[in-house]
Amino acid sequence: MTPSKAWSAPRWTTVVVVLLATLCCLFVPALGVKHENFKKCDQSGFCKRNRQFADKAAATTSWTSPYALDPTSLSFSDGILSAVVLKTVKDGQEKVRLPLKVTFLESGVARVTLDEEKRQKGDIVLRHDSKARKERYNEAGAWALVGGLETSKGAALSDKVEEGFTKVFYGKGGKHQAIIRHAPFEIDFQRDGETHVKFNQRGLLNIEHWRQKVEKPQEEKKEGEEAKEEEKKEEAQGEDESTWWEESFGGNTDSKPRGPEAVALDITFPGYEHVFGIPEHATRLSLKTTRGGDGNYKEPYRLYNADVFEYELDSPMTLYGAIPFMQAHRKGSTVGVFWLNAAETWIDVVKPKSIPNPLSLGVLRHTDTQTHWISESGLLDVFVFLGPTPQDLTRQYGELTGFTAMPQSFAIAYHQCRWNYVTDEDVKDVDRRFDKFKIPYDVIWLDIEYTQEKKYFTWDPLTFVNPTKMHKQLDKSERKLVAIIDPHIKNTDNYPVIDELKKKDLAVKNKEGNLYEGWCWPGSSMWIDCFNPAAINWWKGLFKYDSFKGTAPNTFIWNDMNEPSVFNGPETTMPKDNLHFGNWEHRDVHNLYGLTFHNATYQALLERKKGTIRRPFALTRAFYAGSQRIGAMWTGDNLAEWSHLEASIPMILNQGISGFPFAGADVGGFFGNPSKELLTRWYQAGIYYPFFRGHAHIDTRRREPYLAGAPYTEIITQALRLRYQLLPAWYTAFHEAATTGAPIVRPNFYVHPDDEKGFAVDDQLYIGSYGLLAKPVTKEGQSSVDVYLADDQPYYDYFDYTVYQGHGHHNIPAPLEKIPLLMQGGHIIPRRDRPRRSSGLMKYDPFTLVVVLDKDGNAQGTLYLDDGETFEYEQGAYIHRRFSFDGKRNSLSSSNLVDRVTVKGENYLKTMAKVRVEKVIIVGAPKSWRNKKEVVVMEEGKKESARKKTVEMEWFEGGKGRADWAVVRDPKVGVGRGWRIDFD
Ligand code: NOJ
Repeated sequence: MTPSKAWSAPRWTTVVVVLLATLCCLFVPALGVKHENFKKCDQSGFCKRNRQFADKAAATTSWTSPYALDPTSLSFSDGILSAVVLKTVKDGQEKVRLPLKVTFLESGVARVTLDEEKRQKGDIVLRHDSKARKERYNEAGAWALVGGLETSKGAALSDKVEEGFTKVFYGKGGKHQAIIRHAPFEIDFQRDGETHVKFNQRGLLNIEHWRQKVEKPQEEKKEGEEAKEEEKKEEAQGEDESTWWEESFGGNTDSKPRGPEAVALDITFPGYEHVFGIPEHATRLSLKTTRGGDGNYKEPYRLYNADVFEYELDSPMTLYGAIPFMQAHRKGSTVGVFWLNAAETWIDVVKPKSIPNPLSLGVLRHTDTQTHWISESGLLDVFVFLGPTPQDLTRQYGELTGFTAMPQSFAIAYHQCRWNYVTDEDVKDVDRRFDKFKIPYDVIWLDIEYTQEKKYFTWDPLTFVNPTKMHKQLDKSERKLVAIIDPHIKNTDNYPVIDELKKKDLAVKNKEGNLYEGWCWPGSSMWIDCFNPAAINWWKGLFKYDSFKGTAPNTFIWNDMNEPSVFNGPETTMPKDNLHFGNWEHRDVHNLYGLTFHNATYQALLERKKGTIRRPFALTRAFYAGSQRIGAMWTGDNLAEWSHLEASIPMILNQGISGFPFAGADVGGFFGNPSKELLTRWYQAGIYYPFFRGHAHIDTRRREPYLAGAPYTEIITQALRLRYQLLPAWYTAFHEAATTGAPIVRPNFYVHPDDEKGFAVDDQLYIGSYGLLAKPVTKEGQSSVDVYLADDQPYYDYFDYTVYQGHGHHNIPAPLEKIPLLMQGGHIIPRRDRPRRSSGLMKYDPFTLVVVLDKDGNAQGTLYLDDGETFEYEQGAYIHRRFSFDGKRNSLSSSNLVDRVTVKGENYLKTMAKVRVEKVIIVGAPKSWRNKKEVVVMEEGKKESARKKTVEMEWFEGGKGRADWAVVRDPKVGVGRGWRIDFD
């Protein structure tokens, strides 16, 4: 009899984990987030204090911020303004010195950093004998930033001196200006003489300076008197001290050895009604306000990476990742801020309407967006972007934090996952069944059950008997396997990975400086500390093929639970007084932990193979600014409910404009069993996620697309084929993201930044620069959708060329078998039309070009191609073409976008020499072509006689509101060559 896992005796560790998991996430009877597990602002001491501070400021008419720049400390050189800001405390008796640096960058971005100077009368003493570092955390930049820091050569102090102000011109042509007011300390950032961003306008700047803990005096202690006095003074300022030195939540106590140390600032965007960004939240794209009122939130947006399974929708609650980058948008202008701080952060948003002059009849009424940023510790470090376009913002933010990693081509195809494919035979069977049903897919995933007792880098010997054979079968159709590896390492005997982790001292420590032990899937575990370079080095070794035996070049990695998730920790994560490499407290680096772990995995994948390096693929759940350089993310444990399908669209759009566009949501919903209709609609939406993966919880029924049955399986297959058909467009969109920071799927405001009515539209999306406008169906029983068109170009139905034109909403049919997708006139869309089992098998397939004419009869488009695997594209091994249809000359041409000749480039072109354009479709073809039967094709580089040929063309009448179209069959032009097709 084959031993069955289900019947083996449970180990006590398993029992405890299941118990904990039951408490925290697994078998919750009614699905829904456990609010009581996560803090609200008034349960998080520093957030509560700073909100109180804000309320006090708002309620005091004579409120003056206690921060002033000391003009005698000012200096300016090489694009950097330095000074000291003095904070007045204790009724003016003490001044805390805060070194200020305003760096003006060549890119036109300004960076403001405020630190805290060490006390003159000696250093502060930590309250406990903690080993925590006594500095404000200043290494977030070392993880998040990779460039864009060149200081401006042109930045200069204004020669117009105004008492109490310092002004600096910077940016291209000196169009930007920072106006620094000395007392109270404020900064206005102007573009072309108009203020777009204001710091400390409301006087909420608050750097909680370090101080000595004053122990409560004992009655009999005379020497206590002095301390009592001190305490009174603090109280006199009305500060709430109750959480300064210790804080408890859910049975956990944070020892806070450094006491209060929050940094907070108000940032106002005058005249801006919409702000976007600061993922990750399950909320709309245009952020709601957070101080109550009709339909608004009462809580600030929180950024504190956490395992919030079954998360709540329409909520500012924290989720798994954090990108503290916010954009404000209005007609003609996009500006933004990036708050570089890795500690727990809360952001209040309010939009007070300015009271108009009664005589103006309300015409001048406008809205400011006022934000209030509050972080628990670290530096105040903020970048200010003055746009003016959304494209400027995403580019400049990307120059700082890095652009999206160019993925291997398989990574943007379809991924099939569940918790769990239970044996290697099961994997092979699923693989075969996809083929049997002719459903394309590229990657199959293994969740935690493939391991032996949740020991990563092992295979369960009973269920995954022959992983090598399994990989080989997948490889036959160019398919890949992704295996999960989490950051918690099982604390057990006979497991070399934990032995080494301990021996080499590479794990996170507790507040006493001993190895930290907590609970996760394996039971008792320890967490790798990837802030330590030695830990990264060690991690790399674990992925080598001779170390992680049974893996192969087609194995890739999934990093989960890296917030980090700790089942028995405060808010399901690590205690804040834990210690990392360099003795930084976990509090300082929490939001970076996931990135550091994901980075270590990326580094490991880079190095596991000698010879030509393949681009790594690593999925992460936790992330921070910069994670886009490393891999993809997904939105975690959603529910198989229509509302979660709907919420996924704005969440993914928001990821895109926030610099991390390789994003997706679990297709089908993680918890629960979707109806067949929901599953089908989810696939039809999922094909528009840049990261496209079906996934399901261990307790759900199997739901691979072939199981749905008629008509669902066929409809899902068509959806998948559409994704595969458009892979050339998706890949080009990824390349654009990897070189310019532009999102892969784009919201309306990004594409039509002047269309005010569309700023809040977040239920439809554009794919790359292709004018492909998709509106997924996200409601049960829906059979049509209203698509919003922001301009007066013709938009054509992707499938039947029905024309929709005119600014506003248009109702388009969307019966179950139809995926609402329009093509905006003016674009040329590259496709590969032959259905294949995987994207790898499409490598040398011919192309179809869909030329979608705009109202003037023109169209443009690009195509980027490379080997889809290696880094040779960095040495010129790619094809990058521009296609252009000139309506005046009625001629379609292909030209090189980049002029470069390299050896690798030439070699790559040779491998693609036979790959041709096999079909050209002209949508909106002129009626004058009605009787045309052929076109003239000219190709560069061939012998004179062979250059010119005539090729068949057919014109079709659309009728019934549909556009006419024409098809040129097999012009036989090389995809990597220059050519022209003349239609007249
Ligand atoms: C939590 C992840 O969010 C989910 O996708 C995964 O299936 C489980 N952990 C088990 O690894």
